[in-house]
Amino acid sequence: MQNGKERPPIRIALVGHRFMGAAHANAWRQVARFFVDCPFEPVLAVLCGRDEADLARAARRYGFEAISTDWREAVARHDVDVVDVCTPGDLHAPIALAAAAAGKVVLCEKPLANSVAEASRLVDAVRQAGVTNMVCHNYRRLPAVALARRWIEAGRIGRIRHFRGTYLQDWLVDAEHPRTWRLERARAGSGALGDLGAHVVDLARWLVGEIEAVCGLVETFVAERPLEGGGRGAVDVDDAALALLRFEGGAIGTLEATRVAPGRKNHNRFEINGSRGSIAFDLERLNEIELFEHEGPDAGFRRVLATDPGHPYLEAWWPPGHGLGYEHGFTHTVLDLLRAHAAGERPRPDFADALATQRVLEAIERSASAGRWLRTDAEPDPG
Ligand SMILES: NC(=O)c1ccc[n+]([C@@H]2O[C@H](COP(=O)([O-])OP(=O)(O)OC[C@H]3O[C@@H](n4cnc5c(N)ncnc54)[C@H](O)[C@@H]3O)[C@@H](O)[C@H]2O)c1
Repeated sequence: MQNGKERPPIRIALVGHRFMGAAHANAWRQVARFFVDCPFEPVLAVLCGRDEADLARAARRYGFEAISTDWREAVARHDVDVVDVCTPGDLHAPIALAAAAAGKVVLCEKPLANSVAEASRLVDAVRQAGVTNMVCHNYRRLPAVALARRWIEAGRIGRIRHFRGTYLQDWLVDAEHPRTWRLERARAGSGALGDLGAHVVDLARWLVGEIEAVCGLVETFVAERPLEGGGRGAVDVDDAALALLRFEGGAIGTLEATRVAPGRKNHNRFEINGSRGSIAFDLERLNEIELFEHEGPDAGFRRVLATDPGHPYLEAWWPPGHGLGYEHGFTHTVLDLLRAHAAGERPRPDFADALATQRVLEAIERSASAGRWLRTDAEPDPG
């Protein structure tokens, strides 16, 4: 119910049922339970995957009406309105292209594509089809991060000079960790850069502005790993990526993404310094945001608990101080997609935003191999 009226249903096909499949299924299921102004009632119509037994178990757990081991069949269904893509990167483009051609709303996991060329094709396709499209950068939708954006827009920290974004994990420290799809360029596009760096670039673009030039460095420390079926296979993506960034608005920045930092589980942190103050965020304390505003003998960073009803997204949740978790970022993502779709507006980040992010990621890789600064709008060397 919305304002005493029945909400129109909106039927979801979700492709992928593991990590992100679970996070998105939960978001679709919860969003209209908590946000009274959610304009649609999402219906979990069909869940897609490859292993039928696993898929059927997941569908029962998440509450889907049907399953399909053929994503083409699911995307083509007339009783599906939204296609939500939670597969490895190499399948984002074919599924999203088919969904756009079938006139569906498309939500796609990050990074949108495995290359700039692929991302450009996707932008053209959704424009031509005129379908609502969005990429899941869930960290934008944590109340503390959305509050940081409000502060920046209100001029609280003045003109931004520095952005420092680090996203550190450690699940690849063990050289015997198997070579899953995330370690194959043909499937994932890149390594830590696309996996974690894509989030850093999205936050940098959203909070600070467009990135015009980069100087990158990428490294693969473990060159081959065990294959799941036996034997060993080459790793052709980065374990870690670093970059210096120059923003169009005059700010400078750094990016660091790695999956080999022992002890760091999901350490997504940024600090922004402006002419009048600073903001710092750490995902490991995701309900908090630090603000430094004024000089003086007692000046210091203060910790703001982003759990007040007036803070972004908090109107729907718990009393002040009770805190939200990782999964709420996804609920807020689908909420904003549905709100924008109902209003005929552009949800952000959409495919065009993700293309800009992809240009930064690709420029970092090319800059690393060229050993020099590159503009993000530069065409690749023909050679
Ligand atoms: N937003 C985030 O913070 C975040 C976090 C993790 C992963 N991701 C992204 O989400 C996507 C999926 O990652 P994941 O961690 O869920 O991967 P995963 O390996 O846990 O799951 C992949 C899913 O894709 C399905 N799949 C693979 N091939 C398929 C096919 N041909 N047809 C139908 N289904 C198929 C598998 O059955 C599986 O359910 C990736 O693009 C990844 O970068 C985003």
